[in-house]
Amino acid sequence: MAEPEVIYDVRDLVCRFRQPRTSLRHRTPPLTAVDGVDLQVTAGQRFGLVGESGSGKSTLLRCLAALQQPTSGSVRFRGQELAGRRDRQLRFLRRDVQVVFQDPMASLDPRMRVRELIAEPLVAQRASGTHERVDELLDAVGLPRGSASRYPHQFSGGQRQRIAIARALAVRPSVLLADEPVSALDVSVRAQILNLLQDLVERFHLTLVFVAHDLAVVRHVCDTVAVMRTGQLVEHGSAEEIATAPQHPYTQALVAAVPTLRRALHGATPSSLLRDVPSEATPDAAARPDRPEPS
Ligand SMILES: Nc1ncnc2c1ncn2[C@@H]1O[C@H](COP(=O)(O)OP(=O)(O)OP(=O)(O)O)[C@@H](O)[C@H]1O
Ligand SMILES: [Mg+2]
Repeated sequence: MAEPEVIYDVRDLVCRFRQPRTSLRHRTPPLTAVDGVDLQVTAGQRFGLVGESGSGKSTLLRCLAALQQPTSGSVRFRGQELAGRRDRQLRFLRRDVQVVFQDPMASLDPRMRVRELIAEPLVAQRASGTHERVDELLDAVGLPRGSASRYPHQFSGGQRQRIAIARALAVRPSVLLADEPVSALDVSVRAQILNLLQDLVERFHLTLVFVAHDLAVVRHVCDTVAVMRTGQLVEHGSAEEIATAPQHPYTQALVAAVPTLRRALHGATPSSLLRDVPSEATPDAAARPDRPEPS
């Protein structure tokens, strides 16, 4: 069988940030957010990146999206080097790779209607048939077509994330980068959005890079998991291996913390939280008290 195509090939990636000076005499040394990371993502893989807050997950993801220039090292996308390229040399990447962020309210312009928000990337590419495509995308993310004429503030958090996902899928990307896409959502809605993402990844044959704090969430969505700590990948393997036989003490602590934290915070284990949720995404508004009134 042919080897799957290598989508991302990251070598010795380092990303440092300048720190504000705290003394007149001495410079504050730069902060190393990503510290010599090597990784490969192949076509169709669902690659999870997990680690505690500040471990460098978002910075690494931003390097994959070419939203952040690395200090050194190489990020190859389908064989093409991204590091050091200017924005106008990255058009090929912007078409093929889309990002979903944690906070849909911050990533959606509140002055634009849903139709304009979803169509914007298509208009930028001078695509035709945008009206039909917006309807198709609203169907795909489980929102009524009537949503198109409304504004982001008229939706619940989960619905806004559905809009952000529809926008990301508009240009038919082959790679989706998701940075904590459910962390800002109410716990009752998280499983629905995770299931939606999973369905869409399968349906559109997407390659997924998925960042989260929570190993239970990553395990639910991903087939491969890398564990990040203070800018380095400390462990890497199949989601099953990482969850059931973690090798690195940090991963072991992360695995041990999952059910305890879940129980403490939500009174539920990850499996009970994610079990029995219909895989067919349904609009979460119906179950939410803050459902906006249709306009
Ligand atoms: N633009 C920036 N300027 C300066 N420091 C930054 C910048 N972006 C990130 N950092 C720092 O780099 C480190 C890694 O940040 P990053 O956001 O990548 O972590 P993270 O793993 O995504 O954390 P979280 O889980 O809280 O989102 C942090 O110490 C952060 O303060
Ligand atoms: Mg982050």
